[in-house]
Amino acid sequence: MKYSHVFLLAVAITALAGCNDDDEPTTGDNSPPVVAPGDSGGDGTPGSPDDGPGDGQSPGDGDPDPEPRVDIDGLPLPDTQSSPDYETYVAGQPGYYTSLSSTEFNNIRFTSVATEDNTPNDNELNNPVAKLGRILFYDVRLSANNTVSCASCHQQEHGFTDPAQLSTGFDGGHTGRHSMGLTNSRYYDPGRFFWDERAATLEEQSVMPIQDPVEMGMNLFDLETKLGQTSFYGQLFTEAFGDEAITSQRIALAMSQFMRAMVSYESRFDQAVQAELNNDPTPVLSAQELRGLDLFDSLNCIDCHTTTAFVLDRNHNNGSVSNNDPDQGVGGNLAGFFKTGSLRNISVGAPYFHDGHLPDLMSVIEFYNSGINNHANLSPDLRDRTGRPVRMGLSQADKEALVAFLETLTDDSFLSNPIFSDPFPPEEAGTSE
Ligand code: HEC
Ligand code: HEC
Repeated sequence: MKYSHVFLLAVAITALAGCNDDDEPTTGDNSPPVVAPGDSGGDGTPGSPDDGPGDGQSPGDGDPDPEPRVDIDGLPLPDTQSSPDYETYVAGQPGYYTSLSSTEFNNIRFTSVATEDNTPNDNELNNPVAKLGRILFYDVRLSANNTVSCASCHQQEHGFTDPAQLSTGFDGGHTGRHSMGLTNSRYYDPGRFFWDERAATLEEQSVMPIQDPVEMGMNLFDLETKLGQTSFYGQLFTEAFGDEAITSQRIALAMSQFMRAMVSYESRFDQAVQAELNNDPTPVLSAQELRGLDLFDSLNCIDCHTTTAFVLDRNHNNGSVSNNDPDQGVGGNLAGFFKTGSLRNISVGAPYFHDGHLPDLMSVIEFYNSGINNHANLSPDLRDRTGRPVRMGLSQADKEALVAFLETLTDDSFLSNPIFSDPFPPEEAGTSE
């Protein structure tokens, strides 16, 4: 342990002091070191591209295919210059979301998430830490062969889930379940993570994919070393934690902060709640969408998908599996119980359920309407008076109204907000927007 820290420090110092083209990484990597174009002057600010954040590149210099920015380890160099303001973004959440104990909208009472926040006292949001978390989240260095980042399976435009039913890991293998959306994951009061809740905290969860043999296939000691061989992580860890030690614990803290900043509060549903609170009579939601919300209430959806953040209060058995399905989620006493994420941004998060077997929202509604499994532990909320799984008998119009309501929870600002976007340059000029 001691040795590793001395070693890391040495690597970090070498990286900070050097930045020379002929600096050989100390161990491991067999790809040739390359210095970022325009960054080779050794100007004492490692990892700072001259071009500033994103849009500053000069397109008019006659070179349509600028070389991708690479670091001394031959791997992509992120934008380390811009400093996204996560603290202000999170503080911008409306009162009905986080501070009022409850809000009436459309004659339905919504509780707030005031008591649902799973942020631990020792990892409160702080801009430099979350900034580091974003870069780690998007960095392919976290996988054994530098091909996969967290964002490969958690894509911003999809509410940070994966449009594939099962995700493809670093070595071509497939995950056992569908990826999970990360919107509002800070508002899950039990604070446990994964469909089966096997991770006790987000901090614990965040380093599990790195070590997963299918997902990223990396061990944490090698990762610490590898990150120490870049020109920029030493600086980022220093800004975040006061010194340049790169430890897996700090990696976990930083990525958790970045993910907890992913709160969504600018959907059309929010505009509608805000308008009603302001006594603004201009209708925001259509009659169909409001009908869908009424059904969401009367069909008990709201009993599990609670609060203005539409998060589960805890894991539940919604009859998604039968008694003998090999995947029983949490298992044990809680056979057939699963966690799911917030329904905010759900319309861009297809396919659905832990196994991703439902391709669109209409199939989810059809599941609740006619397909709930008769699991021994099925929630009373989804049983009829005789105890059988409820058969809702919804009309086509009602099903469409429910889908229309769920679509009002889509937050386009969140889904394209640059503070959550990829800080690395696009791989090929031309694949970017
Ligand atoms: C190869 C695809 C893949 C990669 C890479 C990946 N994930 Fe995931 N992620 C998944 C899948 C699949 C699940 C659900 C697994 C389960 O529950 O068994 C998941 C679940 C999660 C959850 C749980 C969300 C919740 O509400 O409980 C979080 C948080 C998460 N991932 C974060 C990360 C982070 C951070 C990284 C990078 C260090 C990462 N993931 C890398 C596929 C991936
Ligand atoms: C008893 C609690 C409960 C009730 C009631 C309930 N749900 Fe769910 N819902 C869940 C659970 C648990 C899951 C995750 C199941 C799984 O993945 O196997 C889920 C998943 C979903 C998903 C997909 C989420 C994803 O990330 O894939 C949607 C959409 C959804 N529910 C909408 C509804 C609607 C609409 C209703 C009312 C008709 C409803 N739910 C009623 C507990 C409930």
